[in-house]
Amino acid sequence: MSTRRFDGRAAVVTGAASGIGAAIAAALIAEGANVVGLDIDEAGLGKRAAELGDAFVPAVADVTDEAAVEAGIGVAAERFGRLDAAFNAAGASRIGAVTDLLEADWDFTIDLIQKSVFLCTKHEARLMKSSGGGAIVNISSLDARVPMPGGSPYATGKAGVVMFTKNAALELAQHRIRVNAVLPGLVDTPLVAPIMGYEPAKQMFLERIPMGVAATPEQIAAPSLFLASDDASYITGIDMVVDGGWELSNFPNLAKLAG
Ligand SMILES: NC(=O)c1ccc[n+]([C@@H]2O[C@H](COP(=O)([O-])OP(=O)(O)OC[C@H]3O[C@@H](n4cnc5c(N)ncnc54)[C@H](O)[C@@H]3O)[C@@H](O)[C@H]2O)c1
Repeated sequence: MSTRRFDGRAAVVTGAASGIGAAIAAALIAEGANVVGLDIDEAGLGKRAAELGDAFVPAVADVTDEAAVEAGIGVAAERFGRLDAAFNAAGASRIGAVTDLLEADWDFTIDLIQKSVFLCTKHEARLMKSSGGGAIVNISSLDARVPMPGGSPYATGKAGVVMFTKNAALELAQHRIRVNAVLPGLVDTPLVAPIMGYEPAKQMFLERIPMGVAATPEQIAAPSLFLASDDASYITGIDMVVDGGWELSNFPNLAKLAG
């Protein structure tokens, strides 16, 4: 397998200032791509630009705002005149019990993790269509399949991302655009710092993960790049779980009773 699968290619990464998006941007640049990184965090984008050099073009944009998304992806059109790969990783959530959750918190989460994926895919696909095709990877979550206490808007939104990915894959195949989703389990990023930084909570998560550790952002970036690369040229509309086996572990392990 070539280690420079993205030589000379143009990519967009949302949520590029931190965590999984930052790891995807770094991996793409290591394989020869030029990357426009969209994020709402201007200071974080500045840090990534300092680390990654001229191949990283920061573009401050709120992915819930269509005009901002269009302008951010427009930077790729201006700089490169094309788009080969796009990764929609921006995200966060507000949590709360179904009986207590505020309408504003529901709307915030659904807009950020679900509507944004539609808006970004729309404008990424338009540019890809005009330049001969491409591949889009949407970062969903294991929560698309496994509900989380207090996480109804997040799980609902991430499940919506999976179906949106399949619908977009169906529509865009004729334009030589593939669309796939990655469903990470627990990934050690600032998003989950409250879990990773509080040992009792961290241990409760790790007990559920057969591989016994959280993923690094790079362990999510690698399968994401695979799906956008020519190595996955016949794969579209899939939802790939990358969770260290977490999805498999719901059955109680009675062997523990035997000591
Ligand atoms: N960390 C995990 O355990 C985990 C697990 C499953 C899925 N995910 C998903 O992976 C994606 C990346 O999360 P992460 O863990 O790297 O978190 P992170 O907090 O490290 O990075 C998320 C980035 O999204 C940006 N962002 C937030 N709101 C935005 C907006 N309105 N417009 C533009 N950018 C915005 C943030 O500024 C940040 O840079 C998210 O969609 C998240 O839901 C994370």
